[in-house]
Amino acid sequence: MKPGAALPPVMAASGEAPSAPLPGLEHHLRPGTLRFAAPPPLALYVHLPWCLKKCPYCDFNSHGTAALDDATQARYIDALVADLEASLPLVWGRRVVSVFIGGGTPSLFAPAAIDRLLAAVRARLPLEPGCEITLEANPGTFERERFRAFRDAGVTRLSIGVQSFDDAALQRLGRVHDAAQARAAVAEAASAFDTWNLDLMYALPGQTLAQLQAELDTALSFAPPHLSIYHLTIEPNTLFAVQPPELPDDDLASEMLDLLAARTAAVGLQRYEVSAFAHEGHRCLHNLNYWSFGDYLGIGAGAHGKLSFPERVLRQVRWREPATYMARALEGRAVSNQHELARADLPLEFMMNALRLKDGFPLRLFTERTGLPLSAALAPLQRARERGLIDWHAEGTADESVRPTARGFDFLSDLTALFMP
Ligand SMILES: C[S@@+](CC[C@H](N)C(=O)[O-])C[C@H]1O[C@@H](n2cnc3c(N)ncnc32)[C@H](O)[C@@H]1O
Ligand code: SF4
Repeated sequence: MKPGAALPPVMAASGEAPSAPLPGLEHHLRPGTLRFAAPPPLALYVHLPWCLKKCPYCDFNSHGTAALDDATQARYIDALVADLEASLPLVWGRRVVSVFIGGGTPSLFAPAAIDRLLAAVRARLPLEPGCEITLEANPGTFERERFRAFRDAGVTRLSIGVQSFDDAALQRLGRVHDAAQARAAVAEAASAFDTWNLDLMYALPGQTLAQLQAELDTALSFAPPHLSIYHLTIEPNTLFAVQPPELPDDDLASEMLDLLAARTAAVGLQRYEVSAFAHEGHRCLHNLNYWSFGDYLGIGAGAHGKLSFPERVLRQVRWREPATYMARALEGRAVSNQHELARADLPLEFMMNALRLKDGFPLRLFTERTGLPLSAALAPLQRARERGLIDWHAEGTADESVRPTARGFDFLSDLTALFMP
């Protein structure tokens, strides 16, 4: 195989078939064509794959469960710890800048289980002082004491999946909670956490501009330090893909985006990424690390990871089915697939993340995070500039940076397509 060429993914056969052992650390340390002066910042993602009920629009690795009993929770935490333990040689000596416990619905787990998980993480990985630790919560799992107990377990930031404050809309979205539960959960997050996030979706089935206005009024009345507002997308392999609801047309969806940009700006929330709005000091450090093409170890069912070595970059995926994942992780074999990123694909991968940021990125970051010289991206960057999709700042200085123009931000897929190999 040519140096730097992608390894073929080690495919997971069937759920039960034993997989061949995956290449270990020495393999990733062999010479390649990338040159990292220092490893990128490292984050930890932990996936908890259960929800009270599967939402019809959701393609996350989440599995409905009427009840998640204590024994399953305990076994899953054991599996996560075994997964982390087996991964340690790949991240030896590196500090973790943020932890994100996502799902699924992590708030389904008992605070004591989250406490055990975080203690196990701390015992095995050095966390940066003041490390951001986010946990995703669903208002359907809301109990006052529970949110505070997550905080006492070490969670520093709660992210609440509200989606809508309108009962009829919540019902159409197949949510397990109503608007009153959403309000109660948000009020509690606001009182228990110094920093927290509220997830909303817009362009919902049958939604009007006036309804979105009302959603924003309610959301902003809680003064969220961070707001994520996603355009509802119909994902393949979801119930909505099979039975599509009537959705706002493109013109209305774009008026909605203008409305939410204006309303958030009016209260000082800065749109720092396509779907993310925050007050100063409340940006999500974990997501910023993804968008600046940092490294992340992903543990848990179906979790993805990206890890850089001095001359190559590795992507990993864990077994997706929770039962299979637990069995394999407890044997020290949680990874179902891994492959190295091809040199030719790195510019596109970097730009698909970094150009989502309103402020763009300093040019030196490209080399720091891909291990490639800037020349690998210069021609498409120049083309993007000629087409008015990016602006160049402090040209010729050490602070040289590029950022998407308003037009580039609106046509992000056209902009990133310029970096296709
Ligand atoms: C993994 S969910 C975590 C929150 C939690 N599971 C819940 O839904 O309450 C992360 C967020 O992704 C967003 N999301 C999920 N599916 C989406 C879709 N098809 N289109 C747009 N946003 C989506 C929702 O806003 C959701 O809160
Ligand atoms: S609760 Fe969240 S993760 Fe679970 S199915 Fe619904 S959107 Fe997906």
